[in-house]
Order: sequence, then C-alpha cells, then structure tokens
Amino acid sequence: FKIDEFQKSLIDWYLEEKRDLPWRKNNDPYRVWVSEVMLQQTRVDTVIPYFERFMEKYPTVADLAEADEQDLLKVWEGLGYYSRVRNLHHAVKEVHEKYGGKVPDTKEAFGSLKGVGPYTTGAVLSIAYGKPIPAVDGNVMRVMSRIFNMDDDIAKVKTRKLFEGLVEKVISHEDPSSFNQGLMELGALICTPKNPSCLLCPVRDFCMAFHEGTQNDLPVKKKV
Ligand code: ADE
Repeated sequence: FKIDEFQKSLIDWYLEEKRDLPWRKNNDPYRVWVSEVMLQQTRVDTVIPYFERFMEKYPTVADLAEADEQDLLKVWEGLGYYSRVRNLHHAVKEVHEKYGGKVPDTKEAFGSLKGVGPYTTGAVLSIAYGKPIPAVDGNVMRVMSRIFNMDDDIAKVKTRKLFEGLVEKVISHEDPSSFNQGLMELGALICTPKNPSCLLCPVRDFCMAFHEGTQNDLPVKKKV
C-alpha cells in the first residue's frame, strides 16, 4: 500500500472538490467544534442554517459561555439530541474559565471536556490545529472498510478502535486537516452507502474492495 500516493490522491481531490460549507470559511477552533457537534447526529443540509444562526448569536467562546441556557435551547430547537448542546455549553464554560477562552490543543485537555469523544477530538484538533489525529465516524468507517476490504462489524466499539489505529498509520502529517476532511467528503460524495461512484473515486486504485468487487457488501453492520 503506497501511503504517500494515497494521501496525495485524497488530499488533491479534497482541495479541488470540497464543498463550500460555512464551517470551512476559517479554522477557528470554536467554530470547528460547534460544527462538529452539530454534524454528529444531523445531516449537512439540515445543519447549515442552524450553524449560521448559532454563530451569529454566539460568535465566540465568551459569548457562548455567558449564554442563557433557555435561549441556547431555542437556537438548537429542531436539531434534537439536546444533551449535545447542554454538554457543549458546559464544556465551553470550562474553556472560558479554565483556559481563558482558548480551546485546548491537546488530546488530553480537549478530550476531557464534557461531551467530547474521540471523534470530536480528532476532528477539531486536526482541522483547527493541524494535529495528525484520526476522526473516525460512521462515514469514515465505511470508506476505510472498503479501501482495506475489511468485514469487521462497524457496530462494535472494538472496530472503531481498529479503524482509528489504521487511520493513525495512513494519516498525512503534512495536512491532517485535508486528509481527515477528505475521508469525510469522500464518504459524503463518492463512497456512499448505496451504489458508490467508484468510477469517479480519486482513490479507486488503492481500494481493495473495488479491486475485489465487494464495495456493495461493505461495511458490515450486524443488527443487534
Ligand atoms: N461531517 C462531520 N464533520 C464534517 C465536516 N467537517 N464537513 C462535512 N461533513 C462532516
């Protein structure tokens, strides 16, 4: 597996084809964080207007730290999974008080904040701070399971850890942000759950599932 060629194909494609999404306007860690929390259980199209309104009302860590909980819940209304915004509020208050409003840039500090799991840690630290940390969600597991033709059950925690270890081995250290976002973008635009557009895929030559013709059988997700 030619890691450097794979990285280059993915990153070049991402830089050329990435969607113009509001949270990609700059790399402000707070902005990236809010977007990743919204995107965790909600589709991109739904998130966009919520994200714009949220950033207008709470443009900085200080603004959100001082927000009234009821106002905050109103801005979130319709997005669902309200524990997300309660945890975010709690965590942002801690960043405001303990870190002077600067979003921490280490796995240990950022990952210890309320509601922040391994996915959010990898996404925020790679996109905002350029750290080579995996950001593995369902989309990335689908892409990786196909590239490496792996039939591990993606419903298992162990499998997510397996994919994190794999991404750690292949992630670009020159541009971890474009690498991680490239995997996400590939999952959204090309390597879709049904009928993936393999003929348009920038990393088709590296894809063991495409090679074996197994892309439609992956990923494996066992019913509980
Ligand atoms: N899904 C999760 N994070 C995302 C991001 N940063 N851009 C697009 N889709 C995403």
